[in-house]
Amino acid sequence: MEFTYAAAPESRSVVDIAPSYKLFINGDWVAGKGGTFPTINPATEEVLSKITQGSASDIDRAVKAARNAYTKIWSKLPAKERGKYLFRIARILQERAREFAVLETLNNGKPIRESRDVDIPLAAAHFFYHAGWADKLDYAGVGKSPKPYGVVGQIIPWNFPLLMLAWKIAPALATGNTVVLKPAETTPLTALLFAEVCQQADLPDGVVNIVTGDGRTGAALVNHPGIDKIAFTGSTEVGKIIARAIAGTEKKATLELGGKAANIIYDDAAIDQAVEGIINGIFFNQGHVCCAGSRLLVQESVYGTVLDKLQERMAKIRVGDPMDKNTDLGAINSAAQLAKIKELTSAGDSEGATRWSSPCELPEKGFWFAPTIFTGVTESHRIAREEIFGPVLSVLTFRTPAEAIEKANATPYGLSAGIWSEKSSKILWTAQNLRAGVIWSNTFNKFDPASPFGGYKESGWGREGGRHGLHGYLLTTQKSHSQKGGK
Ligand code: NAI
Ligand code: MG
Repeated sequence: MEFTYAAAPESRSVVDIAPSYKLFINGDWVAGKGGTFPTINPATEEVLSKITQGSASDIDRAVKAARNAYTKIWSKLPAKERGKYLFRIARILQERAREFAVLETLNNGKPIRESRDVDIPLAAAHFFYHAGWADKLDYAGVGKSPKPYGVVGQIIPWNFPLLMLAWKIAPALATGNTVVLKPAETTPLTALLFAEVCQQADLPDGVVNIVTGDGRTGAALVNHPGIDKIAFTGSTEVGKIIARAIAGTEKKATLELGGKAANIIYDDAAIDQAVEGIINGIFFNQGHVCCAGSRLLVQESVYGTVLDKLQERMAKIRVGDPMDKNTDLGAINSAAQLAKIKELTSAGDSEGATRWSSPCELPEKGFWFAPTIFTGVTESHRIAREEIFGPVLSVLTFRTPAEAIEKANATPYGLSAGIWSEKSSKILWTAQNLRAGVIWSNTFNKFDPASPFGGYKESGWGREGGRHGLHGYLLTTQKSHSQKGGK
């Protein structure tokens, strides 16, 4: 007998969305000079608020505020006092977790279950973790009394809006930098609510500045001469633009870019667990995950079994209202992202792969894409090489471990990978041979602030999180240290 789920909607009464938002500069809300644009709920296309398009002069104002705060206050504060502010922010994030989760889901389209259980708790954890580092930087591994860069420009994407903000702001503040952060144009609301948290925590004015806007605002930040370092998460395309823009300047950069992770299923894996891992690897957050397990590599001898179980499991994924606590897969974040997913999946069809989608009903309004797999995929197909950034899995097969490694590494990216096997020696051998920054074994998409995250090759430069992540925000006082990640 099939059970149907009654609707279990989360209430949105806990959030208070203003009809429009200004920019958060020097601890205050200031009108911008570049006009406004609407921000919507991608699940319904409802306009939620009007957002300011930050102009180059707004960026200039924010950078000056950050410099002033750095010189006059933040760089003079004893490290343990800095730490106290981070602890305070972390606790406020926990206290206001429900508000943040609801707002994130409304603006991003991700299921409330994920914003509530993953994004917001991890964001708070990131502040707690870095609060502890603030007065222990002598042990960060870059020499005695390391110094901050100064003013950092930070540009983040829309897939984990508050979490990416935390990944950027927490280490920057803990190490003594001040920041100008630009959220993604489709998901600015939790960053603007975070500005309120900074006020609530009595963070000195100008230590955190939030300037909303699109790529033009981002470019103005990158090119501002008053920035000492850029921290970016987003597309490889924009990562390359930033690398070119700062070449020949004194500016440093950390870049967290795309991925096309292999998720390798050996024939001795616990198949049911592996199937759950495949589902979590690609359908978590609608597949809008840079480290998503988007290339499944299955050993031929278990291919039929894995595929049957995977399709059976996919048919049970509940797609729909992100505010419903039973929902597994929410809305695609924007019309543009949906168009990209459709374009790449059409290329999959025309290049000869076989498409199968879960038989689910999609809502009429908003942006939606059913959980989809492609079989008969070869390494030359675009869907095996390019980041789709949606709920779409490309399935390839292999016969020997050596062939698995060869196929897994045949990508310009190298952010993450997964290995499923009951044999630890095989797991270790595989991990040693994979060219990927983060490797999960018998699990996938697990994150912890203490664990460094970052990639090889076109997946970016540098690491975020853990002791290694601090290096991207500190000047070395001893041994030489390169900003570039990936050996
Ligand atoms: P994007 O790289 O254009 O946007 C990311 C951030 O960069 C946003 O805040 C955006 O306003 C800003 N930006 C855009 N152009 C800029 C410029 N010239 N200078 C400075 N900042 C700029 O990514 P987009 O267009 O949203 O998504 C395109 C593809 O990128 C996705 O389909 C996905 O494949 C990949 N992507 C990867 C992410 C990751 O987590 N590594 C996150 C978001 C997108
Ligand atoms: Mg773009």
